[in-house]
Amino acid sequence: MASETVAESPLSRYRALLAEGALQPDTAQRAAVEKLELLHIRLKSYRPGNRRSVWGLFGFGHRGEAEIEERTGLYIFGGVGRGKSMLMDLFFTSAPIEPKRRVHFHAFMQEVHRGLDAARAQDADDPIDIVANEVARSATLLCFDELQITDIADAMIVGRLFEKLFQRGVVMVTTSNRPPSDLYKDGLQRERFMPFIDLISDHLDVHQLDGPTDFRLARMQSFTVYHTPLGPEADSAMDAAWTTLVGPGGGKPLRLRVGTRELIVPRHRIGNGRATFEELCARPLGPADYLALVDVVRTLFLDHIPRLSRTNNNEAKRFVTLIDTLYEAKTHLICSAAAAPDELYLEGEGAFEFERTASRLNEMQSDGWRVRE
Ligand SMILES: Nc1ncnc2c1ncn2[C@@H]1O[C@H](COP(=O)(O)OP(=O)(O)OP(=O)(O)O)[C@@H](O)[C@H]1O
Ligand SMILES: [Mg+2]
Repeated sequence: MASETVAESPLSRYRALLAEGALQPDTAQRAAVEKLELLHIRLKSYRPGNRRSVWGLFGFGHRGEAEIEERTGLYIFGGVGRGKSMLMDLFFTSAPIEPKRRVHFHAFMQEVHRGLDAARAQDADDPIDIVANEVARSATLLCFDELQITDIADAMIVGRLFEKLFQRGVVMVTTSNRPPSDLYKDGLQRERFMPFIDLISDHLDVHQLDGPTDFRLARMQSFTVYHTPLGPEADSAMDAAWTTLVGPGGGKPLRLRVGTRELIVPRHRIGNGRATFEELCARPLGPADYLALVDVVRTLFLDHIPRLSRTNNNEAKRFVTLIDTLYEAKTHLICSAAAAPDELYLEGEGAFEFERTASRLNEMQSDGWRVRE
């Protein structure tokens, strides 16, 4: 979905970020980056029609040669804040293969269900087959962030769906907090789900990333996330937090495809995005843009939220949609604003609905939200 201008390799980008001080060394991450690097190299000559494994040349894993030949990707799991999503981003942005797609697993499954409904409405013989064809056409590389299965409707179809995707040569890289064997744990009719676990272990290289440091905890606890009132003090606090998160150097514009349009996040680096209120809420953007944004930006820096009222009602409505989208995607928000959340929107159409937004803004400042567990 997103592409940055730099297209190096995961290892070279990781090294550069370490050298600049944007990342701290972590042995567990290094091992994961090496696997991503090998996958990157292999993808350069990968063709989906050619079902030889992307790992085949490297002889990874402890399994027999025949099984290794089937592997078409990587499954990275581990505790929160260990850097799984960050590493997947490094891999994805430089992955030398098209079409490629990085998507939150939950959003992907919603799309799958919509596709299945449409196929059923047309009396298709095998709706999953139709959806698998569509998905495989839209992405030879699929990167799923936060794979988790909690819903029986998902549990009942992922096995057949993924089997068909693997058959079509789709390469997958996914992150999860759980090993495959713990997915859909204690779920209803789990026996019908078990083939999915075997499928994942057979087709993906399962890699545990569990270094000693929860980097999110370390970073988020160290600063204030809601700066008010607006002014030089708020600006320099925002700049200091931005530098703490992205390191020196500032970040580059990130272009996101949204349907046929493009959304530009003015500054982006390793999952951190920065924009002003005006850039995100005073332009004709809508829910699809914000969904595209939260797919890649895990921490959003939003500068200069003004007071809202009847006079800037459209901006206020977009701001409500933006906050809802950030909230639902569990994105972190660091912002500067003209007033405290409860005082941002005192009168005008929508002031009542704004109460929920204010409450969410308050919750997003709490420690529990900031470390997300
Ligand atoms: N080596 C590192 N040095 C400094 N910061 C890091 C390092 N690795 C990751 N981070 C930062 O720590 C935060 C958490 O990383 P990330 O979101 O990738 O974790 P995660 O493993 O995906 O967590 P979760 O399971 O909650 O999704 C991010 O802000 C990321 O940029
Ligand atoms: Mg993550």
